[in-house]
Amino acid sequence: MPAPSHRRVGLWLVGAYGGVGTSIAVGLASLSRGLKPATGLVTELPMFRGAALPALSEFVVGGHDIRQGSFGESASEFRAGSGVFEPELLAAISDDLAAASARVRSGTVRGTGKSITRMADWNPSDGADTTAQVLDRISADLEAFVQSESIDHLIVLNVSSTEPPFPAKPEHESWQQLNAALASDTGELLPASSLYALAALRQGHTYINFTPSLGASFPAAHQIAEQTGALHAGKDGKTGETLMKTVLAPMFAHRNLQVMSWVGHNIFGNRDGQILDDPVNKASKVSTKDQVVHQILGYKPSTLVTIEYIPDMGDWKTAWDHIHFKGFMGTAMTLQFTWQGCDSLLAAPLAIDLARLADLEKQRGGRGLMKHLASFFKSPEGVPENDFFRQFTMLEEYVASLGTQK
Ligand SMILES: NC(=O)c1ccc[n+]([C@@H]2O[C@H](COP(=O)([O-])OP(=O)(O)OC[C@H]3O[C@@H](n4cnc5c(N)ncnc54)[C@H](O)[C@@H]3O)[C@@H](O)[C@H]2O)c1
Repeated sequence: MPAPSHRRVGLWLVGAYGGVGTSIAVGLASLSRGLKPATGLVTELPMFRGAALPALSEFVVGGHDIRQGSFGESASEFRAGSGVFEPELLAAISDDLAAASARVRSGTVRGTGKSITRMADWNPSDGADTTAQVLDRISADLEAFVQSESIDHLIVLNVSSTEPPFPAKPEHESWQQLNAALASDTGELLPASSLYALAALRQGHTYINFTPSLGASFPAAHQIAEQTGALHAGKDGKTGETLMKTVLAPMFAHRNLQVMSWVGHNIFGNRDGQILDDPVNKASKVSTKDQVVHQILGYKPSTLVTIEYIPDMGDWKTAWDHIHFKGFMGTAMTLQFTWQGCDSLLAAPLAIDLARLADLEKQRGGRGLMKHLASFFKSPEGVPENDFFRQFTMLEEYVASLGTQK
């Protein structure tokens, strides 16, 4: 392979062939070739002018999935089901998608629960392998990618199906204890999302969790990241209804309007919706969507979050929120909104932003948890702040601290 002439940033998508993974691959290829505008990318805002963000053409995509396929097939499936990605666009980027598909490897379903395991048609027989062996196999895939593609910085981005909540274990408290226990464990200790996270972090690679799954959100993972200097952030991308909640709740707080109840109903029909139709998987998502209002208001109104799978809606998600509040002299009033968005196309630009910002931080010599990325997450790790505007101020302050603005 010829020596690379520019920076090569590896973007390893766990859940590559899903809606978000595919939209990231299609988006990077389309924008790199100048075929589509950069609408929706936060990193294209004027405040980032002069910052050393990687160009979109500097990303090299690979990944893991547990379903066979290719980016081209998933994108065509998406076009048929949701009416996005014109055939001419897919034809123009077909070589890029084929090259990225050739870099996707089979993942693991360990600890992911029944609904995800049922969907898998491409996972090696982890069988009786110890968790340490599964972890080593994932690491070997990552290292092979880094070597064969001459990657300068590897970012492992979790965009795979939402796992059921995983109970905290005493071994999660310390890396030393966990590492020793993995050698004899056969699947009780960690879910797949955390195995991908540990494979990345223990080698000093960056890990970003765009899902509500456990990922790297436990002390032992933070410890190993500290030891290797790996960057990390999570969790659960804030793309639609929850983004609206964290924009609107500060308004009620600042105007001293007392919210009595906040009800949000969500309907959609993509594969994510199908997995979230299982009550145990849904519990993870409801938890990250539900906690934000309480935290911002400082008191707990009645809240209800529903997520229902309606197959004919494809990737088009509709959220209807009903907010019942008290104004002057206790007068009851109502705000309602509907949000209709193409779920994966809301998520993909934020995932690309996160990858670019992680690379910026890597080049700056940063280590550990990237708290300044809180505005991208429903449940930002290490940041007890859900108000979108305050979170965005953290990002602005970070950019200002770089001293790069023209
Ligand atoms: N707006 C959004 O779309 C949005 C917002 C926030 C978070 N998310 C989260 O992002 C994730 C992806 O969403 P999606 O709509 O692309 O879902 P999807 O079902 O279309 O894609 C998930 C992909 O992950 C793969 N997968 C499942 N388990 C895996 C494993 N253990 N290892 C490797 N691959 C695995 C599946 O085969 C599938 O291809 C979900 O967890 C979702 O909750 C999405």
